[in-house]
Amino acid sequence: MNYLERAKGFVIKENPIIMGIETSCDETAVAIVKNGREILAESIISSAVEHAKYGGVVPEIASRAHTTAILTATKNALKDANLTLDDIDAFAVTEGAGLLGALLVGVSFAKALAFATNKPLVPVSHIRGHIAAAYLADKNLKPPFITILASGGHTAIVEVKSYTESVCLGSTKDDAVGEAFDKVARVLGLSYPGGPNVERLAKEGSPTVQLPKMLKNYTGSEYDFSYSGLKTAVINYVHNQTAKGVEINKADLACSFQHSAIDVLVEKAIKAVKEKGYKTLTISGGVAANGYLRKALSFAVENTDINLVLPEKKYCTDNASMIAAEGFIQYNQGKFADLTLNAKAVMPFK
Ligand SMILES: Nc1ncnc2c1ncn2[C@@H]1O[C@H](COP(=O)(O)OP(=O)(O)OP(=O)(O)O)[C@@H](O)[C@H]1O
Ligand SMILES: [Mg+2]
Repeated sequence: MNYLERAKGFVIKENPIIMGIETSCDETAVAIVKNGREILAESIISSAVEHAKYGGVVPEIASRAHTTAILTATKNALKDANLTLDDIDAFAVTEGAGLLGALLVGVSFAKALAFATNKPLVPVSHIRGHIAAAYLADKNLKPPFITILASGGHTAIVEVKSYTESVCLGSTKDDAVGEAFDKVARVLGLSYPGGPNVERLAKEGSPTVQLPKMLKNYTGSEYDFSYSGLKTAVINYVHNQTAKGVEINKADLACSFQHSAIDVLVEKAIKAVKEKGYKTLTISGGVAANGYLRKALSFAVENTDINLVLPEKKYCTDNASMIAAEGFIQYNQGKFADLTLNAKAVMPFK
């Protein structure tokens, strides 16, 4: 019997131990998670330093780095969990979205493991993985809830109706918030990855620079965003002040940008929780590691009955535990792939 035929007979186990594999960008990450909530081990090998000198991720460098790191990351995770491959009940892997060459390394590796061990192969959406990071933060968290999805490629207010059904209430019409942080970092002369560096600089400044209000006179969804105008306003401010020979207070500019970029996320998320009558708000994606956002949200839910779930910062940026957490949900649905599974550079958010 080949893998495809055997795969039809895979049984769904209770309390499964799932290995998550994430290679969509510049982190080679492998994690082992029990029952979708308990992290047994995780290993991340980042190639960020190699990309820093180019000011952003170079896809071919990322793919090559995954190829050399993935076996070590897997061995490290198994060793730390004191387990062998035989103890793993399923292999969950990011199938998309992301850099195609980078994804292919993880997908091919997961296929090989599933084939060799005769265990289920579970394809996972990277974005659903980001949202699932909240289940690791609060072991009792159950849908429904609202999440702010704020990453390098996405910005949205998402209604998580059940473990398997999510509705996007509104999203960015142009740049993602993380992308705006990265572009503003570049114009301020800060190195890659930009978000954490903008946050660091912003701590030394005050929000004194007037920046335009997002989506003024906009008639679309009240939960939509637009970061392109804000980013351009920062770039124009730098160029205009430089042309006038006026010295720029970079810390004040970073702080002003951070306020404009983040306050609107907080405002729309709180509105969505109240409008839907939900009790829980979570955050997901790399920008959710931003300290100002986390503080602003904590402040906004004070004296309300909203339960705020903040995943640890390391589970906001790309990691494999979140892939195993979402993999657990897919595993329970019996959503297994066969060995024709392919990587997808673009995946519609569902
Ligand atoms: N402390 C921070 N403050 C602001 N932005 C941050 C912070 N930490 C990380 N980011 C931003 O988060 C982004 C990376 O997050 P993430 O890894 O979720 O994105 P991605 O995987 O590239 O995109 P996506 O998940 O949408 O495919 C980058 O744009 C980075 O600048
Ligand atoms: Mg990501």
